[in-house]
Amino acid sequence: MSKDKLWGGRFTQPTDKFVEEFTASIQFDKRLYHQDIRGSIAHARMLGKQGIISLEDMELIVHGLQKILEQIEGGEFDFSISLEDIHMNIEARLSAAIGEAGKRLHTGRSRNDQVALDIRLYLRDEIVEVTTYLDLLLDALLNQAEANIDTIMPGFTHLQTAQPILFAHHLMAYVEMFKRDKGRLEDCLRRVNVLPLGAGALAGTTFPIDREYVAEQLDFPLITRNSLDAVSDRDFALEFLADASIMMMHLSRFSEELILWSTSAFQFIELSDGFCTGSSIMPQKKNPDVPELVRGKTGRVYGNLMALLTTMKALPLAYNKDMQEDKEPLFDTIDTVKGSLKIFADMIREMRVNTENMRKAAGQGFSTATDVADYLVRKGLPFRDAHEVVGKAVAYCVENEMDIADLSLTEWQLFSAKIDTDIFACITVEASVNARNIPGGTARERVWNEIQNVRSGN
Ligand code: ARG
Repeated sequence: MSKDKLWGGRFTQPTDKFVEEFTASIQFDKRLYHQDIRGSIAHARMLGKQGIISLEDMELIVHGLQKILEQIEGGEFDFSISLEDIHMNIEARLSAAIGEAGKRLHTGRSRNDQVALDIRLYLRDEIVEVTTYLDLLLDALLNQAEANIDTIMPGFTHLQTAQPILFAHHLMAYVEMFKRDKGRLEDCLRRVNVLPLGAGALAGTTFPIDREYVAEQLDFPLITRNSLDAVSDRDFALEFLADASIMMMHLSRFSEELILWSTSAFQFIELSDGFCTGSSIMPQKKNPDVPELVRGKTGRVYGNLMALLTTMKALPLAYNKDMQEDKEPLFDTIDTVKGSLKIFADMIREMRVNTENMRKAAGQGFSTATDVADYLVRKGLPFRDAHEVVGKAVAYCVENEMDIADLSLTEWQLFSAKIDTDIFACITVEASVNARNIPGGTARERVWNEIQNVRSGN
């Protein structure tokens, strides 16, 4: 009975086929094969060094595992559902290949610390990869910002025209967000990068293992300090999912703006054809599918965070089978954020900017009204009074269907005697932008310096 099962000893009846399928994780955790083998090799070397297994057995195990790695990578490995997960698929194959030595590999170890190790090894590499994708996006944004250092657009609040800003300044706002996302991932990595192996099933092991030696081989700067925690903890995965959710939130805001800016009402940008699709009925359509889909995929990334939080909620210590549900949300999020970042970097690089339309829109909607108020303040008026004066001038413009730039000096002076010919130089969009020459402001010089700062790693 249950002959093929590595844990079959105390069982008398074979596992129901459907139960077997339902409880297996090999369908998705085979992704961890490389980490599983790497971890097992380090474990075997340690067992050999400590004299827990013989050096001959250790050599047999290491070579056997290397062979299995080749077989998996060469597509010659049959993963079996009845062997449940990646750990037992590999271990069973090892024992089939090298006999008794293979059956000694699991000494002083449990699948509970093994799976925690595999996920940490896997996530560690993936975080580095996500970070490189973030760098690609940052680079594309910096290039566009530099190319658009003279492009002026309307800045919005409530999606209503507020004040003119540099398009580069707007792009640099996203640079700040993605830099923070990168910082969060780097921070998360410190907590992922801890060796759990040695925790055993939950309480540690009776064998004289050398955890520091394993940590060294696997490049872990730290080892976990409580065996119960080591096998129960999925905070590190949750943290990654939370960081990924925030990153997708940023990408979805950016997506929304790209979608809006490419409408015929805005016409601020044009996404290259490769990132759009047509309509099967409306011949004129060019739909911004890529940003729409990234915006949409944000939902599944949030969902994955909620899924794992909910799985972990109220689980008693230590390992519970519930925790097998950690992998799919994690893998899906990794795939989704990598794909989204990669496609975004390419899209931003190829995006065409309609400088003329942005500039035209920047001058509309009384965008320089605040500049007139500031002008009056410089002439001695308290800001609140200046605000009132300009409000009246705006109302006059609305009534007469004109813009602020159309007012003559005589008209201006209807609202305040303090206004002189120097007002005209104040209310151009360039003047408005460049007047905001403070750290963090949209003045050309400030934005240019910021781009260079970020480029040089600050
Ligand atoms: N497949 C399991 C998982 O992904 C591995 C750990 C199983 N441990 C156990 N005691 N059943 O979580």
